[in-house]
Amino acid sequence: IDELLSEGVAGKRVFVRADLNVPLDGTTITDDGRIRAVLPTVEALAGAGARVVVASHLGRPKGAPDPAFSLAPAAARLGELLGADVAFATDTVGESATATVAGLTDGQVAVIENLRFNAGETSKDDAERGAFADRLAALADIYVGDGFGAVHRKHASVFDLPARLPHYAGYLIATEVGVLRKLTDDVRRPYVVALGGAKVSDKLAVIDELLGKADRILIGGGMAYTFLKAQGHEIGTSLLQEDQLAAVREYLERAEKNGVELVVPVDTLVAAEFPDMKTKAPADPATVAADAMPAGQMGLDIGPETRKLYASKLADAATVFWNGPMGVFEHPDYAEGTRAVAQALVDSPGFTVVGGGDSAAAVRTLGFDENAFGHISTGGGASLEYLEGKTLPGLAALED
Ligand code: 3PG
Repeated sequence: IDELLSEGVAGKRVFVRADLNVPLDGTTITDDGRIRAVLPTVEALAGAGARVVVASHLGRPKGAPDPAFSLAPAAARLGELLGADVAFATDTVGESATATVAGLTDGQVAVIENLRFNAGETSKDDAERGAFADRLAALADIYVGDGFGAVHRKHASVFDLPARLPHYAGYLIATEVGVLRKLTDDVRRPYVVALGGAKVSDKLAVIDELLGKADRILIGGGMAYTFLKAQGHEIGTSLLQEDQLAAVREYLERAEKNGVELVVPVDTLVAAEFPDMKTKAPADPATVAADAMPAGQMGLDIGPETRKLYASKLADAATVFWNGPMGVFEHPDYAEGTRAVAQALVDSPGFTVVGGGDSAAAVRTLGFDENAFGHISTGGGASLEYLEGKTLPGLAALED
């Protein structure tokens, strides 16, 4: 983007593909981290006199307008953060978008409605995606890719549109890639990775890759119970991905062969039921050893011994990557595991990276100072796929 700015953008219509996919409670944004993350790019372009068209997806609407997934709250928040009026188009490539972009003056910013209100955005069919990208291209002279959280998606605005316009990477993408490169090329050791979240299946590919790269991998969250089951423990009614058991067993064996410490919880908090997330009523969980989980009870967070163990495994790390909460952190009775891992990163003298999505939201909702971490990525799936060594469509499209 510095190259673009030095060439001059005054009066040019610049399409910024951002990731404004923020968590919402109704129309209230509960974490605006992703909006703040794109400010440097938008401010630099607007400050240089560009007519800035910001576009993003939000949630997973079904290819048609759906008010529950409107970008209007995100556009309003962007305006507040910029301290400027931000125009909002109520469609993506229709009359409202065309008129809104035509009405922009130099240095003004507009947000167009959710890209996924159009089936062409996410279509698997190249021609359908291409046709939608053609319509988006008509709104702009230049493309800036800055939606790091979506670069792993082969979607029209991420992959097909940059091929139709002069294209550049924004500041956020440059920062994110710079940080993740430190984890893939010549990483400082010990390199410790903490992985949580509900599903093993989301993390299999990254574990596969990390078994050749990391020194230690700490497992938490719902997926830990599939690991415990694979080790032969009873896990009551805990989350289990039975179809992943064979893969997990193979990983446990490979970790031993490769000299990678693959660490699973030694104790866990259990209850008979999943907590009520609306009322957040006290759940009164019991603490049990991981090899003594009672039938009829489910594990919902790592236990106190595991918290201590994981903190000690993180203490001497030179590099840490953390993705995925250790428990149902949104409920106060199950937040301690996630809090302990976040605290261990804060206390770590090493370079610490929080990988997007739920873990980034957890850090902020649990009240941690963002500046206490080396980097908080805006990309959950995107940062994982980067670490898996995959070619990411949204980065490949900017590279040529
Ligand atoms: C994310 O939240 O990880 C990104 O915004 C991508 O969203 P998606 O998983 O719905 O494509």
